Amino acid sequence: MEHVAIFDTTLRDGEQVPGCKLNQSEKIEIALALEKLGVDVIEAGFPISSPGDFTSVNEISKVIKNATICGLTRAVKKDIEVAAEALIPAVRPRIHTGIGTSDSHIFHKLRSSREDIIERAVSAVKYAKRFVEDVEFYAEDAGRTDNEFLARVVEEVIKVGATVVNIPDTTGYCLPEQYGAKIKYLMENVNGIHKATISTHCHNDLGLATANSIAGVQYGARQIECTINGIGERAGNASLEEVVMIMRQHRDMNVQTGIDSRELTGLSNLVSNRMKMPVQANKAIVGANAFAHSSGIHQDGVIKSRETYEIIDPAEVGVDQSQIVLTARSGRAALKYRASKLGYQVRHDMLEEVYRKFLNVADQKKEVVDADLHTIFAETPAAV
Ligand code: KIV
Ligand code: ZN
Repeated sequence: MEHVAIFDTTLRDGEQVPGCKLNQSEKIEIALALEKLGVDVIEAGFPISSPGDFTSVNEISKVIKNATICGLTRAVKKDIEVAAEALIPAVRPRIHTGIGTSDSHIFHKLRSSREDIIERAVSAVKYAKRFVEDVEFYAEDAGRTDNEFLARVVEEVIKVGATVVNIPDTTGYCLPEQYGAKIKYLMENVNGIHKATISTHCHNDLGLATANSIAGVQYGARQIECTINGIGERAGNASLEEVVMIMRQHRDMNVQTGIDSRELTGLSNLVSNRMKMPVQANKAIVGANAFAHSSGIHQDGVIKSRETYEIIDPAEVGVDQSQIVLTARSGRAALKYRASKLGYQVRHDMLEEVYRKFLNVADQKKEVVDADLHTIFAETPAAV
């Protein structure tokens, strides 16, 4: 099994969510929880962007001992100097520097030329190497960058010592096939590619961030950049819990991470809470309904054997057990099961009567809860 590094950017790209500012102590609390989760890299902030970000990167660098701490910069000397200073206390510091490589970024945002971009990319990596050994380069908007030019950029930055090269689908534009093909192209056409780790950084504008990250790994990327709950700029980043559990479930991918998946639900709750950003109920892995079964057919199957409708044991992601939610679509098996959890063994010859009463209640409500069951059995004592 090959290792895929998990680079968490909840505290940098994730924190770019409009209106979700974290304070210093919340950032440290999340960084410590990320380290416990087992991430390889914590991108702690963008030090030059504000004094607060500088201090966060600096303070996180002091308390984290195992994970690499990364600070973002533009391909600008001053940014790199400030990031290097913020990272001084880090046991494993990394500078993440880069520049736009798509024609749209080169000609419209940077008003520059392809040759100039290569020069600036190389200079930035060389300069960052003066301060730290571990330098990651990002080719912003690589998703829409011409592959041939991208390969030239990647080759040049590896030549001057980039340890990791990040291929961001900044605008979340690529299809999984296209993104996978891009990584494949780089793996096959860049001299020296094996001297660096290729990283994915996929945004979710079309809901494809997770699929694109996994496609990248299938074609040779060995680092995924992601965030807890998939938070981030616009529609967000690849969700850490999703990419980790995909690689865990699909052993045939022959890759593994160092993540302790039992910490996932707790961390999701922590980030949601501190950022005041609720997680959608149907979110994969960590949504409130991820292990909740509500229709009769599914409930009957899960009660007989969990694997019939669940591909993950909820305990693996830190959830006590699956939920059998009682609604008007629930069947007799679910009713009997939930009743037995409350200590009521329903008599076979009374089941129809109890079920009828249950449906009467269920038709009035979204969900039948324990208190409703107690009432039904109190009114029908002969049923148990
Ligand atoms: O999406 C992106 O391109 C980024 C880079 C700054 C890494 O966040
Ligand atoms: Zn991003």
